[in-house]
Amino acid sequence: MWLLTALLLWVPAGAQISADPSKAVITLQPPWVSVFQEENLNLWCEGPHLPGDISTQWFLNGTAIHTLTPRHRIAAASVNDNGEYRCQTGLSVPSDPVQLEVHRDWLLLQVSSRVVTEGESLTLRCHGWKNKTIYNVLFYQNGKVFKFSTGNSEFTILKTNLSHNGIYRCSAMGKQRFESAGVYTVKELFPAPVLKASLSSPILEGHLVNLSCETKLLLQRPGLQ
Ligand SMILES: *[C@@H]1O[C@H](CO)[C@@H](O)[C@H](O)[C@H]1NC(C)=O
Ligand SMILES: *[C@@H]1O[C@H](CO)[C@@H](O)[C@H](O)[C@H]1NC(C)=O
Ligand SMILES: *[C@@H]1O[C@H](CO)[C@@H](O)[C@H](O)[C@H]1NC(C)=O
Ligand SMILES: *[C@@H]1O[C@H](CO)[C@@H](O)[C@H](O)[C@H]1NC(C)=O
Repeated sequence: MWLLTALLLWVPAGAQISADPSKAVITLQPPWVSVFQEENLNLWCEGPHLPGDISTQWFLNGTAIHTLTPRHRIAAASVNDNGEYRCQTGLSVPSDPVQLEVHRDWLLLQVSSRVVTEGESLTLRCHGWKNKTIYNVLFYQNGKVFKFSTGNSEFTILKTNLSHNGIYRCSAMGKQRFESAGVYTVKELFPAPVLKASLSSPILEGHLVNLSCETKLLLQRPGLQ
């Protein structure tokens, strides 16, 4: 007897495709997963609680941090705030991770998420150090300009699909033209998961059948830049 390759029960990190109500969810305010040093942001944790108990646990790189409220405030971000955040409420399982990056540069391409499920929106923002005014903003995907804007430095792709996979950067005029570092985003685009029976032998009545949830991984890894 031979076994078919086991299907993986595969839960994509960072992708919020599961509408699992028992899973906590982190939202960022403002919504960017990368910020400049000195900037302020709030991470909010939403999830089911025990009645009368709003205590929340926060983890940075897997280690519990001091915050015990639904809001984790980062004032004047520093490199010490870099890392992978998760949260958990009284009755929830831990959230998917949010990878926060704190940068120091002239220009920063900010994204609303680095991992987007196919069909979700993705917002990009070209952001100047210390809110310096920038203009004539160019957005690039995999080295090619896909958007030019004289003033507005924000751009939303309403429904992402596979063609949005890649490395994004922006350039803009300040005192001179600056270019941001590349952000590798829309790493993984998942169609809705399908439930499949993984059979190691024909189904016999009264026998156990293993079920697994499979998502097709449509992954295009462009060469590192
Ligand atoms: C968390 O991990 C990242 C890399 O995995 C590291 O750069 C960062 O310094 C760590 N943060 C803390 C607070 O340990
Ligand atoms: C940048 O502008 C935002 C609003 O657009 C403001 O909330 C923030 O405090 C400003 N940051 C700095 C460093 O001036
Ligand atoms: C992906 O979305 C873009 C619009 O953002 C559209 O022009 C393109 O046809 C779509 N591609 C596929 C394969 O659906
Ligand atoms: C289901 O999976 C478990 C654990 O992988 C395995 O021990 C068991 O034999 C499987 N059952 C069937 C019917 O394939």
